[in-house]
Amino acid sequence: TQAALDHIKSKIREIKDWPKTGVTFRDVCPLFEDPKAFHEAVDFLRDRYSSVQFDIVAGVEARGFVIGSALAYSLGKGFLPLRKEGKLPGPNLSKTYELEYGSSTLEVQNFSSRKGLRVVVVDDLLAKGGTLEAACFLIESCGGTVVEASVLVELSTLGGREVLKGRGWKTFSLLQYDED
Ligand code: PRP
Ligand code: MG
Repeated sequence: TQAALDHIKSKIREIKDWPKTGVTFRDVCPLFEDPKAFHEAVDFLRDRYSSVQFDIVAGVEARGFVIGSALAYSLGKGFLPLRKEGKLPGPNLSKTYELEYGSSTLEVQNFSSRKGLRVVVVDDLLAKGGTLEAACFLIESCGGTVVEASVLVELSTLGGREVLKGRGWKTFSLLQYDED
């Protein structure tokens, strides 16, 4: 419902000029902390994917783990962690990507075939899209198929959706922010 969406949105904190001048940071941690908003957010995603054929939820470290694992649990699916470099015992596949400030590397474990696995890829927020592009690339590199990239918050003006679309991946976002 619109009331639930408004409530979720009211729990996303806005921090101007952080982590650097000119950037407005959208903080989903208060949403995670609020039991009602957290429940509503997971339920929106659960309702969206309950009628979709897929096998597993992949979540992006760190904040994508929170929403992704709750979604996986609510739908009776497993959870595949896409972790920051150096955390997973291998063999791993790695992908380096650019962020608004610096670069980072994501990894997925790759010790068994994931051929044909249908994957919903989850993160908290889509900005310029480098993170989810790397995440979806890793899913396909290990043999999976990206059903959809899914986020709570999309910063629409930063073009992440177009980046993913250019690679053939669909995006879903619960909330969109057009300013900045
Ligand atoms: C933030 C956010 C997304 C990513 C979005 O993560 O949680 O994962 O940036 O940015 P992009 O669309 O421009 O790639 P961050 O790398 O700050 O780390 P964290 O989730 O581990 O806190
Ligand atoms: Mg992140």
